[in-house]
Amino acid sequence: MNSIKEISRPTTLQSSFMKDVKLGLTSFPKYLPSKYFYDKKGDELFRKIMELPEYYLTRAEFEILKNYAEEIMGIMSKNEAFRLVELGAGDGMKTKVLLKFLLRAGYDFTYVPIDISKNALDLLQEDIRDEFPSLRIETVQGEYLDALSRSLFKDDQSSFVLFLGSSIGNFSIDETEQFFNELYKTLKPGDYLLTGWDLQKNPHIILDAYNDSQGVTRDFNLNLLRRINKDLEANFDLSNFSHYPVYDPEMGLAKSYLVANSAATYRIEDLEMTVDFEAGEAIFMEISRKYTLDDIFNIADISGFRHANYWQDKKSYFIDTLWRRT
Ligand code: AVI
Repeated sequence: MNSIKEISRPTTLQSSFMKDVKLGLTSFPKYLPSKYFYDKKGDELFRKIMELPEYYLTRAEFEILKNYAEEIMGIMSKNEAFRLVELGAGDGMKTKVLLKFLLRAGYDFTYVPIDISKNALDLLQEDIRDEFPSLRIETVQGEYLDALSRSLFKDDQSSFVLFLGSSIGNFSIDETEQFFNELYKTLKPGDYLLTGWDLQKNPHIILDAYNDSQGVTRDFNLNLLRRINKDLEANFDLSNFSHYPVYDPEMGLAKSYLVANSAATYRIEDLEMTVDFEAGEAIFMEISRKYTLDDIFNIADISGFRHANYWQDKKSYFIDTLWRRT
């Protein structure tokens, strides 16, 4: 039976969007939080990014999950029901490899995808219904920590949490620490966490992944200005902004900016504000951190999770780590 339970809080999401846009565009230097990239159009663009020849991350992690599904999931018992919780589910393309394995092997589990995008969850749900009619699924719309702290873990079922795609790389250092601390508090002893991390490698390969030749990543960044125009009655001229990605190999940091080509003033009606830009002024849009193995082991130590195992793709571009909540 395909049981579907939805919990959504669109009003809260809209008011944090307004607050965050106002804060980011009145700060100096200006910034916008990349978590708002993912509206309907943003989801579509991100799906295109995942197929780009330059964007190696998705293929590398897909390879890991395909090759090691049995080893990864084999840690769970077939005799006890559990939740397979996915943070930032997106289109679930990679997760399907695990779902297929679990269903075939006869595990008793409920798939709980959590995503900020209602649209992404709706598409995923439809897709899952078609492909895996017998799968139990409960979708939850919201931000990771907020959604986690809601009514998910009331009973004593154990959880296997997926945080794939190197979404962790989009967090600042403080947010990363806070995220794992909160997750640790929310999970029960014995629960597992599988996290995807993009590793440091030749800087050209990394920069190209954020500067693709078809301009999809540029459109993905510009889409947030388009979203502000649409949802907050603003008048940003998208053609006045250039996409500027950089990669710092010393810090392992890929960053994206939108740079105003010429001085301009824009109006955001719903926030009752105007935003001035000087020629060449940048809005910081996104950080995508790249890790060393040491970085990852340190983060596990600090957060209190116990490292259980890890798997890499053949080129060692990407790693999935399995941690256990002690
Ligand atoms: C979702 N996240 C891991 C992507 C990344 O690689 O940082 C988002 C992205 N931004 C530009 N391309 C992809």
